[in-house]
Amino acid sequence: MTSSYSARSRAIEPFHVMALLARANELQASGRDVIHLEIGEPDFTTAEPIVAAGQAALAAGHTRYTAARGLPQLREAIAGFYKQRYQLSIDPERVLITPGGSGALLLASSLLVDPGKHWLLADPGYPCNRHFLRLIEGAAQLVPVGPDVRYQLTADLVERYWDRDSVGALVASPANPTGTLLTRDELAGLSAALKSRGGHLVVDEIYHGLTYGTDAASVLEVDDSAFVLNSFSKYFGMTGWRLGWLVAPPGAVSELEKLAQNLYISAPTMAQHAALACFEPATLEILEARRDEFAKRRDFLLPALRELGFGIAVEPEGAFYLYADISAIGGDAYTFCQHMLETEFVAITPGLDFGRHQAGHHVRFAYTQALPRLEQAVERIARGLQSWKG
Ligand SMILES: Cc1ncc(COP(=O)(O)O)c(C=O)c1O
Repeated sequence: MTSSYSARSRAIEPFHVMALLARANELQASGRDVIHLEIGEPDFTTAEPIVAAGQAALAAGHTRYTAARGLPQLREAIAGFYKQRYQLSIDPERVLITPGGSGALLLASSLLVDPGKHWLLADPGYPCNRHFLRLIEGAAQLVPVGPDVRYQLTADLVERYWDRDSVGALVASPANPTGTLLTRDELAGLSAALKSRGGHLVVDEIYHGLTYGTDAASVLEVDDSAFVLNSFSKYFGMTGWRLGWLVAPPGAVSELEKLAQNLYISAPTMAQHAALACFEPATLEILEARRDEFAKRRDFLLPALRELGFGIAVEPEGAFYLYADISAIGGDAYTFCQHMLETEFVAITPGLDFGRHQAGHHVRFAYTQALPRLEQAVERIARGLQSWKG
């Protein structure tokens, strides 16, 4: 009986797209050619030098726990990456290696959130954030955001939504599902707004590296006391290895280390050794070529969807998502996703998975498929629109 399980667990919603995914898999098993535009992970497998480093680690017997904070040489390599990419000197002591960005989120929220306290989050946003908060008995205070603010929290919104129980804000740049960035100035504005209220700022930078025509600013360029989540999943293409990191202010590290020891002991050892190869020039060359490929996909899919009547008011500069308004097309987004799947075998994600604000008429397309496949998808969607009654 589910009612005997915790209220905490029962309050967490499943991903609505999972029902669609199950149906997509069923259709696929019956021989249908399903195009998956619902999946939020790169279609590329992990780059060869990283795989080789993982295999070498296994062969060398690196199969035990590491320190809770992670391998010192990986923390140093990450600090070196901040120097190279952002010209920032980050003490490796401030870097904790975690099981995915998800592990970093778990650490940060466990450290910063007391029961009943509010965290400001943009709606639409990554759904697990509000679920993590619920799990530790905090509460997400969803702030509706639209194209006027490029779907991002702003200093003004912080001012407007801050209440006596608010203790911080969690933002993502680039964001999921909208792909929009926060500029350095916007990050500085958010940081100042939070500092003036004694609040914390956590920035999810896990789509850094996957930006097109521009580079994402790190909040650490403007606020050394912010908490930064990052991951090897997206730019580094290592979703299944479960590896990420958290950069924390120096005073928070030993407290976080204690949490890490208790929550998961250490991040996967083999993955940590493999990740050392991420920062080699040969690997970065592969990753940059993949970034170019994502840019081409965005540059194809964005105008093609607009042409079909999808409203994509702001050009997403990063991640691999297009968040589209179907108001001009008409109908409910979830039913629309079902229609596209059942009639044209194209799987997309309904807005409902990302919050409440105008979720009923938005859908997310992930361009995690090769260009020819995206071309095929657009043809099918165009046909699906003709049979859509709205
Ligand atoms: C915005 C955002 N943050 C965090 C994550 C967690 O990813 P991982 O745990 O694989 O690093 C995801 C995954 O899709 C995401 O989209």
